[in-house]
Amino acid sequence: MKLSITIATNEKEFDRMAAWRITGEILNNPKAVIGLSTGQTTRNMYAIISDIYKLYPFDVSSVTLFGVDEVANVSRAYDGACYTMLRKQLIDTLGVRPENFIMPPTLSDDFERECRLFQEELEKRGGVDLQILGLGANGHLGFNQPGTPFESETWLSDMDEVLEERIRKETGTPPGKKLGGLTLGVKNIMHARKILLVAKGSHKAGIVKKMLEGPVDAAIPASVLQLHPNCEFLLDQEAASQLKTELY
Ligand code: GLP
Repeated sequence: MKLSITIATNEKEFDRMAAWRITGEILNNPKAVIGLSTGQTTRNMYAIISDIYKLYPFDVSSVTLFGVDEVANVSRAYDGACYTMLRKQLIDTLGVRPENFIMPPTLSDDFERECRLFQEELEKRGGVDLQILGLGANGHLGFNQPGTPFESETWLSDMDEVLEERIRKETGTPPGKKLGGLTLGVKNIMHARKILLVAKGSHKAGIVKKMLEGPVDAAIPASVLQLHPNCEFLLDQEAASQLKTELY
């Protein structure tokens, strides 16, 4: 199967294209269920959607937005909590009602139950129309780290050590207290009707090549997207710089 790869000529074009994919989905389907991811890659595209909305408000009253993953065992007041990032970067500007912004909690004494409830809430809304995914430097999707089985469903994953260390420092979490990442599983992600994988910058070029040209292997979770029937890989030229040109 030929992969759907779009390469933007520069970062600005990349951000704009991604922003319009999401805005377009909302305009075409006012009841859309859209999964968002957080991180450096998506920040500007959410800012552009916010600008479009401020200039030309569109109907978001029936749209459901949710985050693909969340940091566990930190306060929501922490700036790096996905809930807080998404609210600041997009949700508050669009004025999405709280019941239409679905996020698992950051704190709980029963994360297994939270995972189940999160997944059930999305299923109740008819499943996911569009899932936006960033690409981890090691090929992770959401918080599904290398080695996560493709059959995984919403679960509490360990974090990679670098990220865990950073969050620990930023939140003052003592070494004895475990952090984690609550995330849709690989299987849930693959059930989305449409996926947009976004990756930009030369630091992503190596992992983009593995994701698209390497074997489909749990060692690189994002490689599973080669098998999705409706996944677009949106890259900028730098992220695409190691790809064989006949691929696109
Ligand atoms: C974190 C998030 C992922 C995201 C990834 C990419 O690990 N849990 O959902 O896709 O970062 O981050 P960045 O865009 O900053 O490279």
